[in-house]
Amino acid sequence: MNDVLSQIDDARSIITARTSLVPRVALVLGSGLSELADDLDDPITVPYAEIPGFLPTTIPGHRGELVIGRMAGQPVAVMRGRFHFYEGHSMQQVTFPVRVLHALGCTTLLATNAAGGLHADWHIGDLMLITDHIFLPGLAGHHPLRGPNDERLGPRFPAMVNAYDREFMALARAAANSLGIPLREGVYLMLSGPAFESGAELRMCHLLGADAVGMSTVPEVVVARHMGMRCMGLSLITNLALPDGPPANHQEVLEAGAAARPKIAALIRSILAHIDRTATIPTSPDRP
Ligand code: HPA
Repeated sequence: MNDVLSQIDDARSIITARTSLVPRVALVLGSGLSELADDLDDPITVPYAEIPGFLPTTIPGHRGELVIGRMAGQPVAVMRGRFHFYEGHSMQQVTFPVRVLHALGCTTLLATNAAGGLHADWHIGDLMLITDHIFLPGLAGHHPLRGPNDERLGPRFPAMVNAYDREFMALARAAANSLGIPLREGVYLMLSGPAFESGAELRMCHLLGADAVGMSTVPEVVVARHMGMRCMGLSLITNLALPDGPPANHQEVLEAGAAARPKIAALIRSILAHIDRTATIPTSPDRP
C-alpha cells in the first residue's frame, strides 16, 4: 500500500522502535532555535535521514533531527529544523512530519519561527504570539490539503477560524507575564520566499493586516488543525521588515535566534509546564 496513512505508519514505527515515550506536544523549532532541543531530559534522537518521508534539511540553522524526551516534565517530540516550501518541496511534503507527530500521540502543536516584524517601533529579539495567520501561498493554490481528502485524517473543509487555541494564548500570556518577558501579539503572514520581500510587498502585507512575515509555520498549522490538534505559534522577530529599512539577511536571522534563545526557552518551558491544565483533550477540527 502506498497511501498516506501507510506512509505515516512506516515513519511512526521507525520512531516508536526507538522509544516507548508517547509525546503529547509537538514542538517545531524554527531558524536559529534548534538548540532549544538541548534542554530535553532523557532525549532520544532520530535523524530525519532515518525516517521515511522526512527530507534532508538544506538551510543553515536548521538541523535535521527529531528529538523525543521530556521538557518541563512534558513528553514532547521536537523537530530540530523543518521543511520549507521554498526548498522545492510540495506542501504535502512540508507538512508530512506533523501527520507523523500526530500519529505518535501529539495532540498539541507548538510552532516557532523566525519572522520579520512589520512595525517600525518593534525590535529585533521581540517575541510575538501568533493570534491568526494569512496563508498567501495557500490562498493562491499552494495548499497542503489540495487534492483528494482522506477522511480518516480529517474533514474536506476544515475551519481555520480560531486556528490558534485561545486557552493556549491565555497560557502563553500568563507565562510571559510571570517571567517578565514582553510578548507582542499579531497576525503572521506566510509568503513562499525564498527572496525577502520588496518594499511594495511589505506595504501590501501591512495593508492586509499582518504584523509579521515569514516563510513557514502556516502549512503545518493548517494540517494540524485538519487532524484536530490544538495549535500555538510563537514568532521571534529577527529583523524589521520595513519598506524603507535595511534589507533582511539570513545571518541576522540566525544571530537574533541565538541572542533570544534563553528568553524563548524560558517561555516554552513555562508553557509546557502548565499545558496539561488545558491541553490534553484532542478536539474536533472545527472546534469554535
Ligand atoms: N521576511 C520573510 N521571512 C523572514 C523574515 C523576513 O523579513 N525574517 C525571518 N524570516
